[in-house]
Amino acid sequence: MYSSKITGLGYYVPENVVTNNDLKQWMDTSDEWIQERTGIKERRWIDPKTGDTTAVMGAKAAKIAIERAGLTKDDIDFIIFATLSPDMYFPGGGVQVQDLLGMPTIGALDIRNQCSGFIYSLSVADQFIKTGMYKNILVIGSENHSGGLERSTRGRGVTVIFGDGAGAAVLSRSEETGKGILSTHLHSEGVHAKELALIGPSTQRWVPEIMEANDPDDTSYYPYMNGQFVFKHAVVRFSEAINEGLEANGLKKEDIDMLIPHQANLRIAQFIQKKFQLPDDKVYNNIMKYGNTTAASVIIALTEAWELGKINEGDLVVLAAFGSGFTWGSVVIRW
Ligand SMILES: CC(C)(COP(=O)(O)OP(=O)(O)OC[C@H]1O[C@@H](n2cnc3c(N)ncnc32)[C@H](O)[C@@H]1OP(=O)(O)O)[C@@H](O)C(=O)NCCC(=O)NCCS
Repeated sequence: MYSSKITGLGYYVPENVVTNNDLKQWMDTSDEWIQERTGIKERRWIDPKTGDTTAVMGAKAAKIAIERAGLTKDDIDFIIFATLSPDMYFPGGGVQVQDLLGMPTIGALDIRNQCSGFIYSLSVADQFIKTGMYKNILVIGSENHSGGLERSTRGRGVTVIFGDGAGAAVLSRSEETGKGILSTHLHSEGVHAKELALIGPSTQRWVPEIMEANDPDDTSYYPYMNGQFVFKHAVVRFSEAINEGLEANGLKKEDIDMLIPHQANLRIAQFIQKKFQLPDDKVYNNIMKYGNTTAASVIIALTEAWELGKINEGDLVVLAAFGSGFTWGSVVIRW
């Protein structure tokens, strides 16, 4: 069996910065409230004039990752694309990236696991590489949240949290043992599906039905989040997923060199840091700058941490995420 390792990383965020104070033009909120509850100072929201979309941002991040892997688009055997905010209801963003990058007719798989999307994608890629089916897989997480958020006081509990952006990794075959992805761990609990969800448009609530009802109180086409319920589950599941990854590899929390938690809320990340007694330089957070970018959050943070020289050869890197579904999981990497 082969092992798989990350050979290239890249990210792209829109230039347009939206500060907490900027949000006041649409809703009754304050910089103090947002920073105190979430740690977020600003986020990037696509300026539609730029032409950026979920797929376009994904392709931009992918280009950087492929180049840094020392490869060309023609070396990639397979695409895995994670998002909850695709450009189209169908097809998914994977085929769009294949087209945007002018890649050969390789397979493209779309992953719908929201905030855990990148963890699930890495796990799938890891299996394909370990079995020898593919050599180089492009894994992308990208989100255009700003296009679908309710910019009003009614929507403020959700809207202030989310930002746009994309990240990408190239996962490649390796024959080195004990390096690269050591293990991945995936979980779900669908009984809580509606606690963090966007119900319509869907086949259960399709566009004509929504239009015909013409109900100003209908918020089903905006994301709904039971914030405190999500928070309580997140802290438990994050911890479980990290512990599971450590135990599977006979490791202890002291062995972690870098923890990259999904950037859901700085308070959640700080709770996890405290629980695992990790010093500040062993946890990387960037939610302050980008908000929660869902499927893109872990890969953007991983790329930034790596660019800043915070991840080095031989380091034990743990990625963990929790989100809508509920879904959660972890990836343990020996860099
Ligand atoms: C969303 C979250 C920050 C909200 O914080 P909270 O302390 O639970 O706040 P609540 O929703 O209970 O709201 C408290 C009050 O603030 C108000 N409020 C909500 N959003 C606000 C905003 N953006 N600005 C100002 N006030 C706001 C509410 O209306 C409420 O007012 P009320 O008490 O008069 O009714 C928090 O629950 C959270 O981070 N949850 C986890 C979210 C998460 O991780 N999501 C992604 C999962 S991947």
